[in-house]
Order: sequence, then structure tokens, then C-alpha cells
Amino acid sequence: MSNRSIPKAACGCIAALALAGAAPAALADSSGKWQSGKEVYDKVCGYCHESGVGPVIRGRELPAEYIRYVVRHGNRAMPSFRPSEIGDDALAEVVRLVSGKQVQ
Ligand code: HEC
Repeated sequence: MSNRSIPKAACGCIAALALAGAAPAALADSSGKWQSGKEVYDKVCGYCHESGVGPVIRGRELPAEYIRYVVRHGNRAMPSFRPSEIGDDALAEVVRLVSGKQVQ
């Protein structure tokens, strides 16, 4: 038995709440601290950006500044996220992940 038992299904709930506009409350529990930018991408961004709700954002070499700006300020249907929801360090990692040419 390995200890890789973090339930994948949990992320659906968080993202569903994000859609309902309750994201701040749901994400505030994490105090803006995530294990990695990949976790943020998979659990938050990916819910919309890997499912057709939002446009594909990975592998398009979008400018880092633009991605950061959109996440902090929102843009039309794209919600904004405060530092208490996604901390600066985690956001920097997400930006690196998203702005890269390669999609790992
Ligand atoms: C609740 C759904 C949702 C979540 C969660 C979400 N986005 Fe978005 N995002 C959207 C939608 C919808 C758009 C398109 C907005 C528009 O143009 O009206 C968008 C647009 C964007 C854009 C602009 C894309 C372009 O083609 O110019 C970027 C960059 C972006 N999102 C990054 C992120 C990142 C990074 C995260 C995670 C921290 C994230 N989004 C989380 C729904 C979401």
C-alpha cells in the first residue's frame, strides 16, 4: 500500500463551488497555500480550462504578466483570485506552468 490516497474527486467540489461564486470561502481554508502550482492548476484552473468552460490556456505561450493579471483581476467570465485564495508563490508556479511552451 502506498500513501497516495488523496481523493481525486474532492477537486470537483471545490471547482463546482467556484462556479457558484463561493470560491473565496471554499479556497480560504487553504490560506492561499497549496502544495504546488500543479495542484492549483489541476484543482482550480483545470476545472474550467481543461473542460471547455474556459479556453485552453496551456501551451499557448501566453505572457506571464497577462496570466497573472487575469488571475488577480478576472476578465469577463474568468473569476479573479485573491492572494488569500492563491498565494503569490503558488500563482508564480501556476504562471510558469501555464506560460510554458510544453504541456507536460
Ligand atoms: C470558474 C471557471 C474558471 C476558473 C476556475 C479559471 N478560469 Fe480562467 N477563464 C475562464 C473563462 C470562462 C475564461 C474566458 C473569459 C472570457 O473571455 O470571457 C477564462 C480566461 C482565462 C485567461 C485568458 C485566456 C485568453 O485566451 O486570453 C487566462 C490566462 C486564464 N483564464 C487563466 C486562469 C488560471 C491561471 C486559472 C487558475 C488559477 C483560471 N484561469 C481559473 C474560466 C475560469
